Amino acid sequence: MSDLQGKVAVVTGGAAGIGRAAALRLAAAGAHVVVADRAEAAGREVMAEIGKAGGQAIFQRVDVSREEDCAAMVETALRTFGGLDIAFNNAGISGRIARTEDQGLENWQAVIGVNLTGVFHCMVHELRAMKAGGGVIVNTASVAGLKGAPYSAAYSASKHGVIGLTRSAAREYGKYGIRINAICPGYIRTAMADEIAAGSAPGSSGALVAASALRRPAEAEEVAELVLWLSSEKASFVTGAHYVVDGGLTT
Ligand SMILES: NC(=O)c1ccc[n+]([C@@H]2O[C@H](COP(=O)([O-])OP(=O)(O)OC[C@H]3O[C@@H](n4cnc5c(N)ncnc54)[C@H](O)[C@@H]3O)[C@@H](O)[C@H]2O)c1
Repeated sequence: MSDLQGKVAVVTGGAAGIGRAAALRLAAAGAHVVVADRAEAAGREVMAEIGKAGGQAIFQRVDVSREEDCAAMVETALRTFGGLDIAFNNAGISGRIARTEDQGLENWQAVIGVNLTGVFHCMVHELRAMKAGGGVIVNTASVAGLKGAPYSAAYSASKHGVIGLTRSAAREYGKYGIRINAICPGYIRTAMADEIAAGSAPGSSGALVAASALRRPAEAEEVAELVLWLSSEKASFVTGAHYVVDGGLTT
């Protein structure tokens, strides 16, 4: 236990994949964690896992596309743990794998609603809570936020948006002692990645592995280490940045 002793963190999408790994890692570093997800059973399991390891966590059922849920998440952090220091806005969905003309408006709105508007909703309430005492926000974008992702136009647009939102807010809130950064994972072994790999030839797992320098997907824990670093004082001069964690996929 070190680094984040006594800090309070919220993690959206904390029930699975990258969010779960980050919730466990932040808690192991001493943070009190609000595990926020729309998946209740899995989220409660992560909460229990943190408790078993000697950490402190609470589960909050949240659909990030609903502003009132994001407000309630922040409220839970304040009420239960007495503040908010760290927010990892990570919940996301991949959406339909299809040509742009076949993406469909409903799919477009769902993907933007969770991946981009969801981050916006969370940030609005987190920034209000952090303004007095400072804090750190880490948003999950993607390598698809840096380059085009064929057959995933809505997803790629949402992730480009997350980077724009991150950079703009970072410029506004630095003076309040709030650092805001994004992470851009490549191919990380999670349920979402399996779903994308199963659905599309161009984005298939074999092609992604072959195109990356390290020739393998990452485990979610490898991304959690970056989230921990960005959340800690070790990254005290880092804001408005996006960090690629992709095994050399985009180099
Ligand atoms: N896995 C990858 O290869 C990869 C690569 C780049 C970026 N990402 C991004 O990382 C983030 C996490 O993805 P993952 O791979 O861990 O996926 P995952 O599917 O394993 O986990 C996502 C979690 O988010 C939750 N979630 C989804 N929609 C939600 C909503 N509306 N409200 C609250 N919770 C919601 C799910 O219930 C799930 O627990 C996403 O933003 C994703 O776009 C993943």
